[in-house]
Amino acid sequence: MEIKANGERLWNTLMEMAKIGPGECGGNRRLALTDEDIEGRKLFQKWAADAGCTIRQDTMGNIFARRDGKSRDKAPVLSGSHLDTQPAGGRFDGILGVLGALEAVRSLNDHGIETVSPVEIVVWTNEEGARFAPSMMGSGVFAGIYEEDEIYKNKDPEGVTVEDELRRTSQIGDVTCKSFPIKAYYELHIEQGPVLENENTSIGVVTGGQGSVWTHITLYGQGSHAGTTPMEYRKDPMMGASRIITELREIIRSHSAAVGTVGRLETYPASINTIPGSVFFTVDTRHPNEKILMQINQDLKKTVNSVCSAEGLENDFKNIVINPTVEFHQDCVSNVRQSADSLGYSHRDIVSGAGHDACHVNHVAPTGMIFIPCEGGLSHDEAENTTPEHVSAGADVLLNSVMASAGA
Ligand code: HGY
Ligand code: MN
Ligand code: MN
Repeated sequence: MEIKANGERLWNTLMEMAKIGPGECGGNRRLALTDEDIEGRKLFQKWAADAGCTIRQDTMGNIFARRDGKSRDKAPVLSGSHLDTQPAGGRFDGILGVLGALEAVRSLNDHGIETVSPVEIVVWTNEEGARFAPSMMGSGVFAGIYEEDEIYKNKDPEGVTVEDELRRTSQIGDVTCKSFPIKAYYELHIEQGPVLENENTSIGVVTGGQGSVWTHITLYGQGSHAGTTPMEYRKDPMMGASRIITELREIIRSHSAAVGTVGRLETYPASINTIPGSVFFTVDTRHPNEKILMQINQDLKKTVNSVCSAEGLENDFKNIVINPTVEFHQDCVSNVRQSADSLGYSHRDIVSGAGHDACHVNHVAPTGMIFIPCEGGLSHDEAENTTPEHVSAGADVLLNSVMASAGA
């Protein structure tokens, strides 16, 4: 028998959390392991403790808030996401998954339901990867995809290491970050794309996720005077970068369903009257088919090399993250679909365009995701928005999916 969550309480809880680390125009800025991120984590832990959960933290700072079940030794059902945001992020990306899981626990308490398996809410550290690469970092170490001591050395653009920040903010817990037996993992998330809204569909039954590659490219030329250096004498990495970025768009356009983004571009020495000596930029490419994704990466590398030889430049080309495509577990996918169905919500299967912690957890546990529509498909922007109705529907489907796996 389906039970309903308290959507209004969840909406209010989301708005409470949104007060922490406000952005400039209504969104949020809680970069991973900054004081704002920690403030949000502390508020979550208070709420989870108030809901009767016992809390532990692992050596990557991942937080686990446990609600016991009838049997203590059964593998728990996990549900959660991330609280860190993009630099100009929204109020829902990640946060909806953490607080939606909290709402599931609160609703189980309200209804006096004791599940057979324990239920654990999880907050994964540094999902966004906007400050420290790679993205989905805490879940990546948990799932054994990354080595913790390697990750500890990763630096942000100011040269601060992950370990420095974990220590400074006392986020290194006493539990080693590694996976344990998990009955099932569910993550509620906004779609971050336009499909559900365009089709006026309430719930996305996420069957998997597309693959992604993050590449760091540095072009080296010759710094020189902007006024005295004739064009034919120049080895200008900025001109090289502009040719490569324009060519990248053609490569992406030649593969339908591919997407490519240049999100960061920095020049050295960044002076108006100096031809740059070097230019650094990032490329994020994604595709639902792994072979095509790697073909795109090859084509990009070829383009970088041919533009550099034409422009007299050297280059450094480094793939810093390669996330394969992901297929979620059939049992979890059908639990989500059945929950949406029996609750009477319109739903459709969908492949995630974004990466999520669930994509890593999927390596170590049966995993499923639930999407709700977001306004204009917008995300990773302060204008990111959704409605209380969508949030309520997502919370209902999450609660019933968790109950289906936890046994109630
Ligand atoms: O990059 C992503 O898809 C996710 O938002 N970290
Ligand atoms: Mn997210
Ligand atoms: Mn995100």
